[in-house]
Amino acid sequence: MTGRGQSIVLIGFMGAGKSSAGKALAFKTGLPRFDTDEMISKRFRLPVSEIFAQFGEEKFRDAETDALKQLALGVPAIIVTGGGIVLRPENVKMLQELGTVVSLEADEETLFRRISRRPTRPLLQTENPRATMMELLRVREPLYREAADVRLDTSLLGHDELADAVLQKLGKM
Ligand code: S3P
Repeated sequence: MTGRGQSIVLIGFMGAGKSSAGKALAFKTGLPRFDTDEMISKRFRLPVSEIFAQFGEEKFRDAETDALKQLALGVPAIIVTGGGIVLRPENVKMLQELGTVVSLEADEETLFRRISRRPTRPLLQTENPRATMMELLRVREPLYREAADVRLDTSLLGHDELADAVLQKLGKM
């Protein structure tokens, strides 16, 4: 595929609000929603944490790239991604071809508070999850920034406000 598609692609760190914004955006726009984590879980018939535990991160990353290849053939949509999708440059290229890439961001305190609500993220099952989060953020923040067409601070926004803010930024409201 060449050129830019019509999809809205949400990227960002765990806890940035991608999943809930994706649902609200699908509702508001009537576009179908695809979530790469859900696609992968369905394919393996396992939760993401189990895929990491049984097959390792690399296999999960391969499945992420496969999911994006699948989406490249599809209709315009709201596309929700996992926080590590930007780690592979080939993924970033595909995301940009799919449509407008929106980076959802939040301050560290907010991210950690949101992440701590659900103890399901395999990468943060460490002795010091806060330190792990900081290290992952350090590596990834520049990648989100470089991949994005549009950046949005979600720290003070609820799901609905966040979806409206995305649409406003894209000039669709
Ligand atoms: C990951 C984020 C998760 C999920 C997997 C790996 C990451 O998705 O893809 O646990 O590397 O940041 P969310 O960003 O939706 O939590």
